[in-house]
Amino acid sequence: MSTVVVLGSQWGDEGKGKITDFLAAKANVVVRYQGGTNAGHTLAVGQEIFKLHQIPSGILYPGKVCVIGNGVVLDPAALLTEISALKRRNIDLAGLRISDRAHLVMPYHKKLDELEEMRRGTGKIGTTLRGIGPAYMDKVSRNGVRIADLLDERELQDKLTGLVEEKNLLLTRIYDAEPFAAGRIFEEFRRYAEEIRPHVTDTSLLLNGAIDRGEKILLEGAQGTMLDLDHGTYPYVTSSSPAVGGACTGTGIAPSRINKVVGVVKAYTTRVGDGPFPSELKDRIGDRIREVGREYGTTTGRPRRIGWLDANVLRYACRINALNFLALTLLDVLGGLETVKICTAYRYHGQEITHIPASLRTLEQCEPVFEELPGWQEDLSEIDSLADFPSAARRYIQRVAELTGTPVAIVSVGPNRHQTKVLHELF
Ligand code: GDP
Ligand code: IMO
Ligand code: MG
Repeated sequence: MSTVVVLGSQWGDEGKGKITDFLAAKANVVVRYQGGTNAGHTLAVGQEIFKLHQIPSGILYPGKVCVIGNGVVLDPAALLTEISALKRRNIDLAGLRISDRAHLVMPYHKKLDELEEMRRGTGKIGTTLRGIGPAYMDKVSRNGVRIADLLDERELQDKLTGLVEEKNLLLTRIYDAEPFAAGRIFEEFRRYAEEIRPHVTDTSLLLNGAIDRGEKILLEGAQGTMLDLDHGTYPYVTSSSPAVGGACTGTGIAPSRINKVVGVVKAYTTRVGDGPFPSELKDRIGDRIREVGREYGTTTGRPRRIGWLDANVLRYACRINALNFLALTLLDVLGGLETVKICTAYRYHGQEITHIPASLRTLEQCEPVFEELPGWQEDLSEIDSLADFPSAARRYIQRVAELTGTPVAIVSVGPNRHQTKVLHELF
C-alpha cells in the first residue's frame, strides 16, 4: 500500500504538475484534492506542452484513474473545454472520475470575484478571477451547489431559484451590477450535467477501495503551503487548503492512510498576485531568473514575482506538512550566476527569526538574512547523472536539505520527464 501526497511548499507554481506527471508513471490513481481553475500545471512531454487546470496530472498515461476530489471547486464549462482539448490531442479520458460531493463554480462566483477585487482597490489580493473565493465562501456558508445537485434536475432548479435571487440582491444593491437569470443558468448547467454524468462517482469509496487493494495513489495539490487559507500569508492566500490537511478533507482519505508527503520546492521563489514576499528580488537578477525560468503565470499569463529561496518558508512547509522528502525543481534556471543566495532567517527589529510571523505587518517589516553560495556556469539540463553536476550545484542541493532537515528525493533540471534525477524512490 502506498499513498503519496505531492504538494507545493511555497506560493504555488513549484512544478507540481511536472513532478506529479513523473511519479504518475508508477501510480494507479492520481487525485486532485483542492483548488479549481486557479491552478495551472504544465506538463512537457518531448516537444508537447500540456497545461492542466482541473484535470489531475496523471491523465497523459493511458489506463490511469484520475480523480477530481470533493475538495475541488469545479468549473464545468472550463472542465469540458479542458476535456475536449485533451481529446483532440488523443488523450484518453476514460479514467476521469469526479466526486459527487465536489462543489461547482457558478457564473455569479466569477462575477463576484471580479467585483470584490475591484472593491478592495489597492488592497486587492490579485486573485486569478476564476470565482474560487466566492465558490468556497458559498460552500462554507452552506449555499453551495454540488455535483450531486447538478445531476438532479429538480434539485438544481430549486437551488438555483433561491440562490440566484440572493446573489442578485448582492449584485444589484451592493455592487450596482447586472443580475443573473436563474433560468438561463439552469439551461446551461443542465447541458453540462449530461456531459459530466458518466464521470461522476463517490470518489472516497473508489479511493479507499483502491487503497484496500494495495494500489498506489498519488495525491496532487494545487497552489502551495504559503497560499493555504489557514497557514499561508493571510489574507493574501487562496480559499482552500493546499497543505496536507486538505489532501484528507479533499478526498475522504484519512491521515492514517497517507504514507509519504513530498514538498515540491522551486530552487528559488516565485509569487503571483499581491502579498508579502521577504526574499523578493526587484533587480536585474530577478528579471534574469524570470526570463530564463519563463516565469509567467500558466493560468493568467501574469509575470511572476521572483526571489531567492527562503529557508524560513521551507522550514514552515516542512513543519505544517511533515514533509518526508523534497522535490527540488528548476535548479537549471540558476545556472550562469556568479553566486546564489538563500534566505536563512528574517531580521525583525534587530532580532533574527526563523519562523513565519502570523501578523502581516510584522512579516512586511522582516528583512531577509542571506547566505551566499558559489554559483555554477554549466547547463544542468542535459547532464545525465547527479554525480556529474558541478560541485556548486551539488552543494546547493545539500544546503537545502541541511537548512530544512529534509532529504531531497528528486532534482528536476528541465520541464521534461528525462530531466529528472531520483535520489529516493517514492513508490
Ligand atoms: P505547478 O503549478 O506547480 O504545476 O507549476 P507550473 O506548471 O505553473 O510552473 C512550473 C513551470 O516550470 C512550468 O512551465 C514547467 O514546465 C516548468 N518546469 C518544471 N520543472 C522544471 C525544471 O526543472 N526546469 C525548468 N527549466 N522548467 C521546469
Ligand atoms: P498552481 O496550482 C500560483 C494565487 C493568486 C492570488 C491568490 C488568490 O498553478 O500552483 P485565487 O484565484 O485562488 O482566489 O487567488 O492565490 N494563486 C496562485 N498562485 N499558483 C497557483 O496555482 C495559484 N492559484 C492561485 O495569484 O495571489
Ligand atoms: Mg501553476
